[in-house]
Amino acid sequence: MKHLLATDGLDPAVATAVLDTADELKHTLLGREVKKLPTLRGRTVITLFYENSTRTRVSFEIAGKWMSADVINVSASSSSVNKGESLRDTALTLAAAGADCVIVRHPASGAAQRLSEWLAEPGTSVVNAGDGTHEHPTQALLDAATLRERLGSLKDRRIAIVGDVLHSRVARSNIHLLSALGAEVVLVAPPTLLPYGVESLPVTVSHDLDAELPAVDAVMMLRVQAERMHGGFFPSAREYSIAYGLSEKRQKLLPDHAVVLHPGPMLRGMEIASAVADSPASAITEQVRNGVHVRMAVLYHLLASEGAAA
Ligand code: CP
Repeated sequence: MKHLLATDGLDPAVATAVLDTADELKHTLLGREVKKLPTLRGRTVITLFYENSTRTRVSFEIAGKWMSADVINVSASSSSVNKGESLRDTALTLAAAGADCVIVRHPASGAAQRLSEWLAEPGTSVVNAGDGTHEHPTQALLDAATLRERLGSLKDRRIAIVGDVLHSRVARSNIHLLSALGAEVVLVAPPTLLPYGVESLPVTVSHDLDAELPAVDAVMMLRVQAERMHGGFFPSAREYSIAYGLSEKRQKLLPDHAVVLHPGPMLRGMEIASAVADSPASAITEQVRNGVHVRMAVLYHLLASEGAAA
């Protein structure tokens, strides 16, 4: 694997290999006081973030450091991007300075793909840490890792993805990855928050959350992305919460074994009730924990495994 840009088109065998590596790393590090492995000693990983992040940026930094890579964080707001430098010039500068891998988050869909083209010559790997409304592949991989842990396997599992699908790169990456790994995905959303061309995706669509919950193995609540809704929010926050929020009452409709996921950051009380987010069914903290091991595995497959340059 040279880059990780999307789950759309990602070979399920490669995705499974990354998940297996993450699992192995997790068990290797379990209970160890010192987490560092020597695998990426001498390699340089740079995070380049044009949008805010807590989970993704921090877990990539921890992942790189636990693999003994040198990790450097560049945020657009405190770099020469603020003086007008383009994404291309910024990326070429980082590659010239010695980056083996650039992890990029950018508000434009397709930015990570362009970066991988510009960095083909220096041979720098690119990871998409979220590009506009397009994809967030490592989030989908950590969601799949969490679901595998809780449910055993994804094969024929029914997963509901609920809420603002239209603006969600997390939803898009999960749709492709979960279906490639054998799960059945149902999107539950108001018609105004579904993407154009949803019929071409490997999903079924519902507008009735209460009708779907009794038949799912997991429910993935999405963040409402107000920052991408330039024309306002329809339905209103209150209407959304009533129809699509995961309340305590609604949680009771789920089968006992069902898992509750949320990629974060959560709007408690609107997308998900606090009591549900903090309940034993919730795997939200596990998602964050697994994010570190999944990102370690991604860096391993990009920079250290035999197929790294493929
Ligand atoms: N889930 C996720 O991408 O969170 P951050 O925006 O905090 O990285």
